[in-house]
Amino acid sequence: MTTTEDLPMFLRGNWAPLTEERTLTELRVTGTIPAELDGRYLRNGANPVTGYADHPFLGDGMIHGIRLRDGRAEWYRNRYVKTPFVANPDLAVIDMTSGLTDMAASKANTNIIGHAGRLLALEEGHNPYVLDGLLETVGPTDYAGKLHGSYTAHPKVCPVTGELLGFGYSMLEPYLRYIRVSATGELVQEESITVGGPTMMHDFNITRNHVIFMDLPAVFDIEMAMRGELPIRWSDSYPARLGVMPRNGINADVVWYDIDPCYVFHPMNAYEVGNEIVLDVARLDHIWRDGPMDFPSPALYRWTVDTVAGTVREEQVDDTPAEFPRVADSVAGLEHRYGYMMANATESAFEDPLSAAGAILKYDRATGGRSQIDVGMGRLPGETVFVPAVGATAEDDGYLTYVYDATTDTSDFAIFDASTMSSEPIATVQLPRIPFGFHGNWVPASVAD
Ligand SMILES: [Fe+2]
Repeated sequence: MTTTEDLPMFLRGNWAPLTEERTLTELRVTGTIPAELDGRYLRNGANPVTGYADHPFLGDGMIHGIRLRDGRAEWYRNRYVKTPFVANPDLAVIDMTSGLTDMAASKANTNIIGHAGRLLALEEGHNPYVLDGLLETVGPTDYAGKLHGSYTAHPKVCPVTGELLGFGYSMLEPYLRYIRVSATGELVQEESITVGGPTMMHDFNITRNHVIFMDLPAVFDIEMAMRGELPIRWSDSYPARLGVMPRNGINADVVWYDIDPCYVFHPMNAYEVGNEIVLDVARLDHIWRDGPMDFPSPALYRWTVDTVAGTVREEQVDDTPAEFPRVADSVAGLEHRYGYMMANATESAFEDPLSAAGAILKYDRATGGRSQIDVGMGRLPGETVFVPAVGATAEDDGYLTYVYDATTDTSDFAIFDASTMSSEPIATVQLPRIPFGFHGNWVPASVAD
């Protein structure tokens, strides 16, 4: 484990990259894994193949996966996404800017999802990478030549139609494209959307009938790109807006609403009620105003768009620093009652995670209440994923799963009861150390086998 003090924070301690790919089939389990869990918990993160990266967002994607079946933890494996950067590590140093136009030159390090029978490793500047069920890389996809540019790391699967709704943004025009993929995995619409400039749009929102773009004041800077830096900075002059468009709409259909300047990496969910659109989001006051590591603490806010009055009402729900908001996949774009977040989204927790007390928060948006699972000192949970119980009728009838680091330089995959939020896990699977990373998802066996 690298502890060299002169490395940046994001390469030290449990941020340090792993140096080997492993496959483990004899896994130690405590408790009882629910037999109904049949699928893969997968998580992506930046794990620089050279051992070094200039920014936490620029490492090479490594997928960690655990396969659950019949109450057993069948395997754990970690695999690099085999991008050109992994095949040729020198590329990472000498040819950063070609990555802006070569859509296969992805770090593939941000998210991994299942859709239309495929696993897709995603990073927002490039094309998706397809993986097989054993996490081996098949290769990049441009959806049979229909995807003309970058693709977000945060597309949304509509639980009603099975469509995959997403977008791509770019520092070159068109700055934003809306991308709709059918339930069977065919790209059926790519639509240029007019925004105020080259904005960095990390995520977006869907409702039953609309998509909502977040056009916020984090903008590209070409000179930073040419210097090989993360080419995005805060702009005090760029207006913050939400753009609401019918799902099958075109650029001319987008209605824009002004909001107060802020940044949102991740919304929790959005839904429609009459003439209003409600968005719960993890809101930051700004991003990258004072340099590339300027991350103020995010917290849960609610935006309510009044589509008749043309206004957006903003309310702070909680002042507890928290990130990676999630709802049950079954309510994506539909009214949710419960949302889950990772606490400890503070600079000090990232700097010194062993001195932070990890917790998973559960917000009850019907009562306004909040409960939490405490995972203990030095144990920081990753993104929490809700997995429904078989035959569940209540929205929170299911499991919360994630990986956390322990103080012993190992990690656990933990399964908790989402309805009780008991801090006592139903089961844990002991794993080797898994570095802190980005996004995870539960992919049912029906999608990836
Ligand atoms: Fe993200």
